[in-house]
Amino acid sequence: MTRPFLRCIVALCAAMLLPLPTNAQTADYRVIPLPTSIVADTTRTFALNDGMGIAYDSSNPDISRNAQFLKQWVAEVAGVQLQLTPDNKKAAIQLAIRKAPAKTTKKAKALADMTPQELAAYDITVDARGIRITANTDEGLFHAAQTLRKSLLAAKAPVRMPFATIHDQPRFEYRGVHLDVARHYFSVPVVKQYIDLMAMHGCNQLHWHITEDQGWRFEVKALPELARKGSIREQTVIGRNTGVYDGQRYGGYYTQEECRELVNYAAQRYVNIIPEIDLPGHMMGALHVFPNLGCTGGPYPVWPHWGVSREVLCAGNPETLTFLKTVLGELCDVFPSKYIHIGGDECPKQRWKQCPKCQAKAQELGLTDDGQHSVENQLQTWINHEMEAFLRERGRDMIGWDEVLEGGLTESGIVMSWRGVKGGIAAAREKHRVIMSPNSHCYIDYYQLKEQWNQPEGIGGYLPTSKVYGYEPLSDELTDEEKSYILGPQVNLWTEYVAFPQHLFYMLLPRLDAISEVQWSQPGQKDFDDFCRRLPRMKRLYDSLGINYCHAIE
Ligand code: ACM
Ligand code: ZN
Repeated sequence: MTRPFLRCIVALCAAMLLPLPTNAQTADYRVIPLPTSIVADTTRTFALNDGMGIAYDSSNPDISRNAQFLKQWVAEVAGVQLQLTPDNKKAAIQLAIRKAPAKTTKKAKALADMTPQELAAYDITVDARGIRITANTDEGLFHAAQTLRKSLLAAKAPVRMPFATIHDQPRFEYRGVHLDVARHYFSVPVVKQYIDLMAMHGCNQLHWHITEDQGWRFEVKALPELARKGSIREQTVIGRNTGVYDGQRYGGYYTQEECRELVNYAAQRYVNIIPEIDLPGHMMGALHVFPNLGCTGGPYPVWPHWGVSREVLCAGNPETLTFLKTVLGELCDVFPSKYIHIGGDECPKQRWKQCPKCQAKAQELGLTDDGQHSVENQLQTWINHEMEAFLRERGRDMIGWDEVLEGGLTESGIVMSWRGVKGGIAAAREKHRVIMSPNSHCYIDYYQLKEQWNQPEGIGGYLPTSKVYGYEPLSDELTDEEKSYILGPQVNLWTEYVAFPQHLFYMLLPRLDAISEVQWSQPGQKDFDDFCRRLPRMKRLYDSLGINYCHAIE
């Protein structure tokens, strides 16, 4: 056994054997998500007090911003007023980036050789001298500041901080949370709150679902009518497609300026926004404005109810590709994300089967049913290929829902497995990168409590926090080599039945806490009872921020 491995075991044992006291005056480092290792000596403490300084490299704006975050959060959670004392080597709190060598040496890895997980890592030491935070990058400093924020939930100064050495690093590089703002629109401040909650939990990818049958919510400057008209539905069905409608116009979209503002806001919190233009199905918002892009020519309403529409973009109309490239071109201008999601789910093929233009296109491409992939599924793959090539010219990687496997996968597409884990497993076996968000464990639009009668109406299903917590993204069915294609897990929050922020956060919390330990912590550390004991502190934080959550847990 190697020494670092032994040290790790000792650290984990120490963390388990020495539960830290949780009275209001004492810091508790056992936060959510649980850090990789905590070696604490609870018999000795450092007293964190008003007026103490935070030292940092003031010439670096990213480090300075994190120092500011730390100061703000400590004041909020513990009422301790720290001071920013840049470049003061004597300050009680020191933030530092580890000096990385230009090239890998025996002792240290160069930044360029580090995994995304190592780039996000950090160490915190608390001793008689104070608190020292070191990391490989400013991102690590941010995660360290979040850990201190959650550790310090205390009544008032001075806060006793047990001496400790903490090392932390996420398990997965991709730690996703999805938000559907198309079925219901959520304002920019609410999306920022959502990003704040993600960042608090170490999540780093916001999958932002911004176009749908029920509304197109992304401004495209070359097509001004698209969002202006395509974002508005005349009314919304009441309940589960009851046939009774509310008679209220409903709409809202994000200007490109607002999208850029969100991208920057998220980036400062180490969250990347992955926009999704769901194509070629789920397109009623766009078809309403451009009926010529549908197989029948329309007219098409922006859908006032839920489900899967058989009206989809016409694959045989050359204007369809022109339209999609215009949209994706502007999308790439606004969102710097390496990943762009093109949807691809739930695209019924009835219209394509009957449409002369679609059939002529299939013939022109020489598509025939090969027993495994139907002509129409291959037609969808052809569209995916076009989108993939377009995105790759702009240096982006395409993500698609697992239906993109049905017509034969494109070369570099990333598969998001949602209809269970089968698609993800198949894709990893074919050496494709995969994001795991199976509806069995990751669909947080499902009910989280058995008794539905005293909860807001939802889409159905039952996904308790314990089941999210118990999810293991690396299936036993995969070899170690195949497992390396799994980028990480993601929870999905669809909003057909979620119209208000209070309900949105109720659905999110505490299942976000649960997925954060799946994404961040090592599997050997996971223990649901222990998680439940740590959760009340997070709830106090939500209370202090005025954020709604589900109080019960199953
Ligand atoms: C999906 O839930 N339709 C991807
Ligand atoms: Zn067609």
